[in-house]
Amino acid sequence: MGAFSSRALSSLAVLLFLLFSFSEARDYLVGGKTDSWKIPSSESDSLNKWAESSRFLIGDSLVWKYDNNKDSVLQVSKRDYVTCNTSSPIEEYKDGNTKVKLDQSGPYYFISGAKGHCENGQKIIVVVMSARHGMFASISPAPSPVEFDGPAIAPTSDATSIQGTLMVAMGVLVGFVLM
Ligand SMILES: *[C@@H]1O[C@H](CO)[C@@H](O)[C@H](O)[C@H]1NC(C)=O
Repeated sequence: MGAFSSRALSSLAVLLFLLFSFSEARDYLVGGKTDSWKIPSSESDSLNKWAESSRFLIGDSLVWKYDNNKDSVLQVSKRDYVTCNTSSPIEEYKDGNTKVKLDQSGPYYFISGAKGHCENGQKIIVVVMSARHGMFASISPAPSPVEFDGPAIAPTSDATSIQGTLMVAMGVLVGFVLM
Protein backbone atom coordinates (compact mmCIF):
# COMPACT_ATOMS: atom_id res chain seq x y z
CA MET A 1 0.00 0.00 0.00
CA GLY A 2 1.42 3.42 -0.95
CA ALA A 3 2.11 6.25 1.46
CA PHE A 4 -0.77 8.19 -0.03
CA SER A 5 -3.51 5.69 0.67
CA SER A 6 -2.29 4.65 4.10
CA ARG A 7 -2.20 8.27 5.19
CA ALA A 8 -5.67 8.86 3.78
CA LEU A 9 -6.87 5.74 5.55
CA SER A 10 -5.46 6.76 8.90
CA SER A 11 -7.09 10.18 8.54
CA LEU A 12 -10.34 8.45 7.76
CA ALA A 13 -9.92 6.26 10.83
CA VAL A 14 -9.38 9.35 13.00
CA LEU A 15 -12.44 11.01 11.50
CA LEU A 16 -14.63 7.97 12.02
CA PHE A 17 -13.35 7.66 15.58
CA LEU A 18 -14.28 11.28 16.28
CA LEU A 19 -17.72 10.94 14.72
CA PHE A 20 -18.36 7.70 16.55
CA SER A 21 -17.12 8.77 19.94
CA PHE A 22 -19.27 11.90 19.96
CA SER A 23 -22.46 10.26 18.75
CA GLU A 24 -22.30 7.14 20.93
CA ALA A 25 -25.12 6.85 23.47
CA ARG A 26 -23.90 6.87 27.04
CA ASP A 27 -25.07 5.38 30.33
CA TYR A 28 -24.98 7.78 33.28
CA LEU A 29 -24.86 6.39 36.79
CA VAL A 30 -27.18 8.82 38.58
CA GLY A 31 -25.16 10.91 41.04
CA GLY A 32 -21.91 9.53 39.67
CA LYS A 33 -21.44 6.88 42.39
CA THR A 34 -23.15 3.57 43.18
CA ASP A 35 -24.57 4.77 46.51
CA SER A 36 -25.87 8.12 45.24
CA TRP A 37 -29.60 7.34 45.24
CA LYS A 38 -30.19 8.44 48.82
CA ILE A 39 -31.09 11.56 50.80
CA PRO A 40 -28.28 14.02 49.99
CA SER A 41 -26.14 15.01 52.95
CA SER A 42 -26.00 18.66 51.87
CA GLU A 43 -27.17 21.06 49.19
CA SER A 44 -23.78 20.92 47.49
CA ASP A 45 -24.08 17.14 47.34
CA SER A 46 -27.55 17.27 45.76
CA LEU A 47 -28.46 15.11 42.80
CA ASN A 48 -29.45 18.17 40.79
CA LYS A 49 -25.92 19.54 41.16
CA TRP A 50 -24.71 16.41 39.47
CA ALA A 51 -27.42 16.63 36.78
CA GLU A 52 -26.51 20.22 35.94
CA SER A 53 -22.89 19.28 35.39
CA SER A 54 -23.74 16.62 32.80
CA ARG A 55 -25.08 17.00 29.27
CA PHE A 56 -27.70 14.42 28.39
CA LEU A 57 -28.57 13.64 24.79
CA ILE A 58 -31.40 11.62 23.29
CA GLY A 59 -30.41 7.94 23.37
CA ASP A 60 -28.41 8.21 26.59
CA SER A 61 -29.57 6.22 29.62
CA LEU A 62 -29.75 6.86 33.33
CA VAL A 63 -28.77 4.04 35.67
CA TRP A 64 -29.69 3.76 39.35
CA LYS A 65 -28.18 1.28 41.83
CA TYR A 66 -29.95 0.95 45.18
CA ASP A 67 -31.22 -1.53 47.72
CA ASN A 68 -34.65 -2.47 46.37
CA ASN A 69 -35.88 -3.47 49.83
CA LYS A 70 -35.54 0.11 50.95
CA ASP A 71 -35.93 2.34 47.93
CA SER A 72 -37.31 2.77 44.42
CA VAL A 73 -37.26 5.23 41.54
CA LEU A 74 -40.44 6.96 40.43
CA GLN A 75 -40.68 8.89 37.19
CA VAL A 76 -43.29 11.56 37.84
CA SER A 77 -44.86 14.71 36.41
CA LYS A 78 -43.38 18.08 37.20
CA ARG A 79 -46.25 18.73 39.61
CA ASP A 80 -45.65 15.49 41.52
CA TYR A 81 -41.90 16.22 41.53
CA VAL A 82 -42.49 19.57 43.19
CA THR A 83 -45.01 18.27 45.74
CA CYS A 84 -43.27 14.90 46.27
CA ASN A 85 -46.49 13.09 45.47
CA THR A 86 -45.69 9.38 45.10
CA SER A 87 -49.28 8.19 44.57
CA SER A 88 -49.49 8.16 40.76
CA PRO A 89 -46.07 7.90 39.12
CA ILE A 90 -45.69 7.74 35.33
CA GLU A 91 -43.37 4.78 35.90
CA GLU A 92 -42.26 2.93 39.01
CA TYR A 93 -38.94 1.07 39.14
CA LYS A 94 -38.02 -1.11 42.11
CA ASP A 95 -35.60 -3.72 40.82
CA GLY A 96 -32.52 -2.20 42.48
CA ASN A 97 -30.73 -1.80 39.16
CA THR A 98 -32.83 0.55 37.08
CA LYS A 99 -31.99 1.74 33.62
CA VAL A 100 -34.11 4.38 31.90
CA LYS A 101 -33.46 5.31 28.30
CA LEU A 102 -33.88 9.00 27.56
CA ASP A 103 -35.68 8.84 24.23
CA GLN A 104 -37.03 12.36 23.99
CA SER A 105 -35.75 15.85 24.65
CA GLY A 106 -36.92 17.98 27.53
CA PRO A 107 -37.09 17.53 31.29
CA TYR A 108 -37.49 14.20 33.10
CA TYR A 109 -38.51 14.20 36.77
CA PHE A 110 -37.58 11.41 39.19
CA ILE A 111 -38.24 11.07 42.91
CA SER A 112 -37.57 8.40 45.49
CA GLY A 113 -40.50 6.12 46.33
CA ALA A 114 -39.28 5.69 49.91
CA LYS A 115 -41.42 7.46 52.48
CA GLY A 116 -40.13 10.93 53.31
CA HIS A 117 -37.08 10.72 51.05
CA CYS A 118 -38.26 13.05 48.28
CA GLU A 119 -39.16 15.68 50.87
CA ASN A 120 -35.58 15.47 52.08
CA GLY A 121 -34.12 16.08 48.65
CA GLN A 122 -33.88 12.66 47.03
CA LYS A 123 -35.18 13.87 43.68
CA ILE A 124 -33.65 14.79 40.36
CA ILE A 125 -34.48 16.69 37.17
CA VAL A 126 -32.64 15.61 34.05
CA VAL A 127 -32.93 17.80 30.96
CA VAL A 128 -32.30 15.98 27.70
CA MET A 129 -31.11 17.88 24.64
CA SER A 130 -31.64 16.67 21.13
CA ALA A 131 -28.34 15.80 19.47
CA ARG A 132 -29.00 18.49 16.90
CA HIS A 133 -28.84 21.19 19.56
CA GLY A 134 -25.51 19.86 20.68
CA MET A 135 -23.62 19.03 17.52
CA PHE A 136 -24.88 21.65 15.11
CA ALA A 137 -25.97 24.46 17.37
CA SER A 138 -23.64 26.96 15.76
CA ILE A 139 -24.41 26.02 12.13
CA SER A 140 -28.21 26.07 12.30
CA PRO A 141 -30.16 29.12 13.48
CA ALA A 142 -29.94 29.56 17.24
CA PRO A 143 -32.21 26.97 18.89
CA SER A 144 -34.82 28.35 21.22
CA PRO A 145 -33.90 27.80 24.86
CA VAL A 146 -35.22 24.66 26.50
CA GLU A 147 -38.34 25.79 28.30
CA PHE A 148 -38.92 24.57 31.81
CA ASP A 149 -39.10 26.13 35.23
CA GLY A 150 -36.45 24.07 36.95
CA PRO A 151 -32.85 25.10 37.50
CA ALA A 152 -31.46 26.90 34.49
CA ILE A 153 -28.88 24.99 32.48
CA ALA A 154 -26.69 27.16 30.36
CA PRO A 155 -25.67 25.72 27.00
CA THR A 156 -22.12 24.49 27.26
CA SER A 157 -19.44 25.55 24.85
CA ASP A 158 -18.08 22.08 24.13
CA ALA A 159 -20.43 21.64 21.14
CA THR A 160 -18.40 24.32 19.39
CA SER A 161 -15.09 22.68 20.17
CA ILE A 162 -16.31 19.25 19.07
CA GLN A 163 -17.48 20.79 15.87
CA GLY A 164 -14.16 22.56 15.45
CA THR A 165 -12.32 19.29 15.93
CA LEU A 166 -14.49 17.60 13.31
CA MET A 167 -13.92 20.44 10.85
CA VAL A 168 -10.16 20.14 11.30
CA ALA A 169 -10.34 16.35 10.90
CA MET A 170 -12.35 16.68 7.70
CA GLY A 171 -9.95 19.32 6.42
CA VAL A 172 -6.99 17.02 7.07
CA LEU A 173 -8.73 14.16 5.30
CA VAL A 174 -9.64 16.23 2.26
CA GLY A 175 -6.08 17.55 2.23
CA PHE A 176 -4.61 14.03 2.09
CA VAL A 177 -7.05 12.85 -0.57
CA LEU A 178 -6.28 15.81 -2.82
CA MET A 179 -2.50 15.44 -2.45
C1 LIG B 1 -51.32 13.14 44.71
O1 LIG B 1 -51.75 12.83 43.42
C2 LIG B 1 -53.01 12.19 43.36
C3 LIG B 1 -53.25 11.77 41.91
O2 LIG B 1 -52.94 12.80 41.02
C4 LIG B 1 -54.07 13.09 43.93
O3 LIG B 1 -55.32 12.46 43.90
C5 LIG B 1 -53.70 13.48 45.36
O4 LIG B 1 -54.64 14.41 45.85
C6 LIG B 1 -52.33 14.06 45.43
N1 LIG B 1 -51.94 14.24 46.81
C7 LIG B 1 -51.48 15.40 47.27
C8 LIG B 1 -51.10 15.41 48.71
O5 LIG B 1 -51.35 16.40 46.57
